[in-house]
Amino acid sequence: MNSIAFAQQIRTNGLGVWPGFLSKSSLQALAADLSECQEAGSFARACTGQGSGHGIHELVRRDTVHWLGRVDNTAAQSNLWVRIDALKKVLNQTLFLGLSEFDGHYASYPDGGFYRRHLDCFKGDSTRVVSLILYLNLAWTAADGGLLRVYGVNSHTDIKPIGGTLVCFLSAESEHEVLTTHCPRNSFTGWFKR
Ligand code: OGA
Ligand code: MN
Repeated sequence: MNSIAFAQQIRTNGLGVWPGFLSKSSLQALAADLSECQEAGSFARACTGQGSGHGIHELVRRDTVHWLGRVDNTAAQSNLWVRIDALKKVLNQTLFLGLSEFDGHYASYPDGGFYRRHLDCFKGDSTRVVSLILYLNLAWTAADGGLLRVYGVNSHTDIKPIGGTLVCFLSAESEHEVLTTHCPRNSFTGWFKR
């Protein structure tokens, strides 16, 4: 897989899956970086909803997140931004989406965590164009659960959250959910915006 083939998958299927996007050493470095942020206590419960409905909704999602900025980055974070920026360039050249900003966070689901079926953007808001998820689970097995289910018109695709796998889909079009995980489930998740 390369970034052009990945972009073509998104164009054809509205969904791109790239196993092994991260090398083993990059995966280990990012997974360790996430753990350090967690140990430093910088994760917070993730919110959903809009306006007065914005807040922590236990029955909708159960992960904690830590937003990553572009300053004071660790080496692992800087390397990640280089990869994201390179991918954005290819997505723009291949799909003409006019992507500019990118916002992203580490996400960690505890044992028993899930995120019910949803879209990544609010109705009428087209700021988020492409959703990106990069899994950071070092030793995922089928018994761990926590599949990402992406819904199509009459079917769905289940994606294993195996460390190093990159997933992208169109934020306004693909409903998706995180099925219940049976062990901690970690990722970096973000959105290319217009
Ligand atoms: C999200 C999301 C999917 C995943 O954070 O909005 O849908 O597989 N994540 O973690
Ligand atoms: Mn989502």
